[in-house]
Amino acid sequence: MTQDELKRAVSQAALRHVPRGEIIGVGTGSTVNFFIDVLATIKDEIPAAVSSSARSTERLRAHGFDVVDLNQVDRIPVYVDGADEIDAAGAMIKGGGGALTREKIIAEVADRFVCIVDASKLVQVLGRFPLPVEVVPMARELVRRQLVALGADVQLRAGYLTDNGNEILDAHGLSITSPRELERTINQIPGVVTVGLFARRGADVALIGEAEGVSERTFAQPAI
Ligand code: A5P
Repeated sequence: MTQDELKRAVSQAALRHVPRGEIIGVGTGSTVNFFIDVLATIKDEIPAAVSSSARSTERLRAHGFDVVDLNQVDRIPVYVDGADEIDAAGAMIKGGGGALTREKIIAEVADRFVCIVDASKLVQVLGRFPLPVEVVPMARELVRRQLVALGADVQLRAGYLTDNGNEILDAHGLSITSPRELERTINQIPGVVTVGLFARRGADVALIGEAEGVSERTFAQPAI
């Protein structure tokens, strides 16, 4: 199977986790693009979606979905999104596509985070994929120095601004053995909007696309 076929297969499998008649949270990325296309097959059963990026909103609306502001919504039973890496505890690196802040906000509201990935995203230790950190532009160098002090080789995502008008620093070379601790540490640097570590609120379920088919893993969320 090609990687696109794996992405389509996990997207199809994710439909089983989508409660009909409820608002759905939708992430961002190439895997989620397949999910949005598959979700369109049950569009009439989905009253509205909350979206994590302008790109996903555009694709959802092109399929005729009603996309609503998160502030209009009390509850999101399920949020479906991809990941750049996911470990054996369901902690993830996200933000390769730059939408980490809105993704983290929606994930926090959602009762259940369903992560859709192909098997290449499964890792023992997070960090081979550079860790994205969204920063207020005036704090870029402050944050960069503190990430370097944590052992990272830091690169500004050149020419890129998030949907929120901020910059992204990509922290390379970290071996993240304590994801929840590192998430807390980086969150505390003034000027950091969001770190793309999703460990405090990780995935509840991962659907993993492999040549043999889609497997499912569930994770117990640690008490905060
Ligand atoms: C978007 O900001 C990211 O968090 C994506 O969810 C993540 O990068 C996975 O994207 P792909 O499905 O394109 O690999």
